[in-house]
Amino acid sequence: MVSSTALSVLAALLLLAAAGAPASAAEKETRLRVYWHDVVSGGPNATAVQVAEAPSSNASATGFGSVVVIDNSLTDGPNLTSRLLGRAQGVYVSAGKDSLSLFVAMNFVFIDGEYNGSSIAIIGPNRADPAVREMPVVGGTGVFRFARGYCQLRTHWFDAKTGDATVEYKIHLRHD
Ligand SMILES: *[C@@H]1O[C@H](CO)[C@@H](O)[C@H](O)[C@H]1NC(C)=O
Ligand SMILES: *[C@@H]1O[C@H](CO)[C@@H](O)[C@H](O)[C@H]1NC(C)=O
Ligand SMILES: *[C@@H]1O[C@H](CO)[C@@H](O)[C@H](O)[C@H]1NC(C)=O
Ligand SMILES: *[C@@H]1O[C@H](CO)[C@@H](O)[C@H](O)[C@H]1NC(C)=O
Repeated sequence: MVSSTALSVLAALLLLAAAGAPASAAEKETRLRVYWHDVVSGGPNATAVQVAEAPSSNASATGFGSVVVIDNSLTDGPNLTSRLLGRAQGVYVSAGKDSLSLFVAMNFVFIDGEYNGSSIAIIGPNRADPAVREMPVVGGTGVFRFARGYCQLRTHWFDAKTGDATVEYKIHLRHD
């Protein structure tokens, strides 16, 4: 038999638990901009390395099947010598058989600035043709826990001879 005192204590505890539940009003919104440097040239200095491609019998004009692993610099300005904020680590895959289109999966790992120690995960499609491309941000760590959002990409610079490129990422996040 549960006494009425015990019941009222239980009720009080339940009320406290309810009051202690996260208010969820504290969701933050962050916008940031970084420059992503795809350096495929420069031998040992390259930060983007092709590790696989389709067999020659399946070669396509779009490079369908090739896989590139990256550890690209992320800087606060458009120059590779601008302040280094973090690294973009992951892969991109030529996933369009008839279109120039990438499947991208990478983490932005921050190593300096106000987001040092935090990261965000980006997974999405990246077509070559539109001037502005968009990819989803699907998660994060550190200050970006529970992150979701998107980034908009604009090519800032591209060297057709080497394939090196600098891309501006404008990132819009909601997170804890
Ligand atoms: C690699 O980078 C170093 C330092 O910036 C530079 O001196 C060297 O010439 C580069 N190597 C190549 C092959 O580009
Ligand atoms: C890839 O090449 C092989 C051998 O030539 C061929 O049998 C196959 O159909 C090709 N696959 C595609 C997707 O074109
Ligand atoms: C990047 O900075 C270096 C050193 O300050 C400079 O020589 C170079 O011209 C700059 N590149 C661009 C694309 O602004
Ligand atoms: C970034 O964070 C790491 C780990 O906390 C720390 O060792 C490092 O000094 C920080 N870097 C800067 C530039 O603040």
